[in-house]
Amino acid sequence: MKILGIESSCDDTSIAVVDSKRNILANEVLSQNDIHMLYKGVVPELAARSHVSYIDLTCKKALEKSGITIDNIDLISATAGPGLIGGLLVGLTFAKTLAQVKNKPFVAVNHLEGHALTTRLTDNVKFPFLLLLVSGGHTNFYFVKSVNNYLNLGGTLDDALGEAFDKVAKMIGIEFPGGPNLEKIAKKGNENAFLFAKPLIDKPDLNLSFSGLKTSVMQIIREEKLQDLSVKANIAASFQKTIAEILSIKLVRAIDKSDRNIQNFKNVVISGGVASNEYLRIKLKNIVKEKNKDCFFPPVNLCTDNGAMIAWTGYERYMNGLINNLDFPAKPRWPLEERK
Ligand code: KG4
Ligand code: ZN
Repeated sequence: MKILGIESSCDDTSIAVVDSKRNILANEVLSQNDIHMLYKGVVPELAARSHVSYIDLTCKKALEKSGITIDNIDLISATAGPGLIGGLLVGLTFAKTLAQVKNKPFVAVNHLEGHALTTRLTDNVKFPFLLLLVSGGHTNFYFVKSVNNYLNLGGTLDDALGEAFDKVAKMIGIEFPGGPNLEKIAKKGNENAFLFAKPLIDKPDLNLSFSGLKTSVMQIIREEKLQDLSVKANIAASFQKTIAEILSIKLVRAIDKSDRNIQNFKNVVISGGVASNEYLRIKLKNIVKEKNKDCFFPPVNLCTDNGAMIAWTGYERYMNGLINNLDFPAKPRWPLEERK
């Protein structure tokens, strides 16, 4: 089968063609960074307008690159939520129209399930697995039993991790997009320069909080001279180290909890935009290894939003008989554990 995957939930217009043998025939990603950079953050209305302007061109490029026409596509899938309503409506309407006109089956995909199943596309990771999903809008531990079957183990009570990266980056004057640029600057800094708060690490549950950490970064910023580039780099590096420590502590707890409840669980998957951070990848991989589990990350280019993960998830749902009607609504809020 050849599957078209359409992603437009935030600020990337992405369309991919994936086949059922796990080949990514095309994965076009059109970033809107140059638009949102001026405002130091994503402006939902501008994001939606840009999706409208470029979605057909992105689709054309994806089909051309994969060397097929729309008639050779067997299944159309699109992100239906969670995300920004304007962008979701653009991608969803585009997908439904193609499905209607070309008489193809349609699958509405939860964006978080897209992140969750990416390593099944790239590494054929077997169920069940423990998932740490770290993106710009979500930060959560799940136990994944199968397609459409997610147990929420705990997650952030305030900011998502990507959001915390973006806000700290903005506070120290790092250009949008904050997360990846903060990682670059952190490479030049001393990670032991500052000691920041690690909220909730003493609590035995799997909840996380980043707002107290943000405040403690703010306090340091008030005391230090930010014009000094090395200070910025030291703050970035110390922040990143603190995040790695918080995630490591909670990840060990999540592994122990899963071990207690599930027999023979072996796989740990870490995905979402923040999982493209090389520093965190190394730290978390070591932690998982120490716990004698196998750790999987999507390749860096498939950690952030992309159509390939939506195409693949559409295929997995289709193979499980989960096909949708064309009246499926856009859902700005859509918990992963909610079965639909
Ligand atoms: O998964 P994603 O592309 O979109 C959402 O579903 O939210 O994640 C985007 C988030 C942004 O907050 C971005 O700053 C963060 O992922 N991010 C990073 C890195 N690359 C992207 N954060 C830290 N280090 C990175 N290298
Ligand atoms: Zn995402």
